[in-house]
Amino acid sequence: MSAYDVIVIGSGPGGYVCAIRCAQLGLKTACVEGRETLGGTCLNVGCIPSKALLHASHQLHEAEHNFAKMGLKGKSPSVDWKQMLAYKDDVIGQNTKGIEFLFKKNKVDWLKGWGSIPAAGQVTVGEETHTAKAIVIASGSDSSTIPGVEIDEKVVVSSTGALELNKVPKSLVVIGAGVIGLEMGSVYARLGSEVTVVEFLDAVCPGMDGETAKVFQRTLKKQGLKFVMGAAVQKVDATKTKAKVTYKLRKDDSEHVLDADTVLVSTGRKPFTDGLGLDALGVKTTERGVIETDAHYATNIKGVYAIGDCISGPMLAHKAEDEGMAVAEILAGQAGHVNYGVIPGVVYTHPEVASVGETEETLKEQGRSYKVGKFSFMGNGRAKAVHAGDGFVKILADQETDRVLGAHIIGPMAGDLIHEICVGMEFGAAAEDIARTCHAHPTFSEAVREAALACGDGAVHS
Ligand code: NAI
Repeated sequence: MSAYDVIVIGSGPGGYVCAIRCAQLGLKTACVEGRETLGGTCLNVGCIPSKALLHASHQLHEAEHNFAKMGLKGKSPSVDWKQMLAYKDDVIGQNTKGIEFLFKKNKVDWLKGWGSIPAAGQVTVGEETHTAKAIVIASGSDSSTIPGVEIDEKVVVSSTGALELNKVPKSLVVIGAGVIGLEMGSVYARLGSEVTVVEFLDAVCPGMDGETAKVFQRTLKKQGLKFVMGAAVQKVDATKTKAKVTYKLRKDDSEHVLDADTVLVSTGRKPFTDGLGLDALGVKTTERGVIETDAHYATNIKGVYAIGDCISGPMLAHKAEDEGMAVAEILAGQAGHVNYGVIPGVVYTHPEVASVGETEETLKEQGRSYKVGKFSFMGNGRAKAVHAGDGFVKILADQETDRVLGAHIIGPMAGDLIHEICVGMEFGAAAEDIARTCHAHPTFSEAVREAALACGDGAVHS
């Protein structure tokens, strides 16, 4: 048994960042993790492995579609799926070992096993019970499914199974056109699967700026993904090798069936708090199992805090990380804070889609007057040079004050470009501030400047 200042339960991006920050701020810290490796869903079966497969499959797409145009001729590469999975596993290994190294460097103890909280101030891992002045629950989330659909991780898979298929399926039906469905759908479409996405709503990616979502869906269609919109999946009947997906169209209630080798269920995730003993401890949760916290991440039980996917807000690794940093600072007596108005969201398809702040829809709802500065990547020299002219940067700014309220980018490196806007928003920037900042030529970021110029007297290159 050991006595700690802080025990963090879970080593995903929320938990490991929190633990490292606590240690850096002088608190004696341990982190409980039951998986064989650190890093949680993100590093083991989420963000990182999916990015490896997106990268590899994008290289294939480039070889098939753009190499010849640039004078690179010859047979395009064929897919060695086992090797691609091995590459993905190697990437996972490098990243998870990196966290282990950081724990050692910062003197964070890894308590190996699944933790539970028998009482405030105590965490049990295996046979041992440790004490802690503060406990931070960062236990993350798990895939969820819908009624009538059972995940077997072979034919009917969650995102976890989708990273481990034993072969590239001939046909893949994706249930839900959210981030997971579109990222993994893109991977398999590029690798040659016939991909059909069945979505309940009329637009992809709920909450995304409407115009951006439309262009995004059109772009994915051009890449070969098929969409059935306004369709509620009723059930999936699976054998050992095939599945039938039954859905009803919302407009006329008609029933249809799709055949598939593999079905990906990407209809959202739910908080994962199994085995923690929250009920016995009396920790308040919502009906959906979301842990309730106050503005300082404190639950209703003294000394027990929670962050990341198991509390409210978007289930994003970087949101969890920021909460991990904030709660560490609060526990160390500082003023930790997260600005929820400036949390970017990125879909790592090709082109990438990135957003931050308000959308046109949310601004209309608020009755706020705003202006739109938009610039197409077609007018960006660098984008044209690398066959990445599809897409745009769109900045939404206050009609009167010119303050940047949000931005939506679909195009090359959108996930990186968005951070210029994030920094600007954190500093309360006006679009003119971005427009007057010198941007190196030739870079994709010039498109951001041009969109900012378009909020004022007009873009130069359009
Ligand atoms: P999601 O919430 O993004 O999308 C789920 C979609 O499924 C919605 O569009 C919904 O309308 C649809 N749906 C629900 N029930 C349905 C039914 N019966 N029939 C047809 N469609 C149905 O969920 P997703 O993609 O599973 O992602 C889970 C979480 O993981 C999200 O919070 C996401 O932000 C996060 N994530 C983020 C990534 C990123 O930031 N790049 C990557 C992967 C996941």
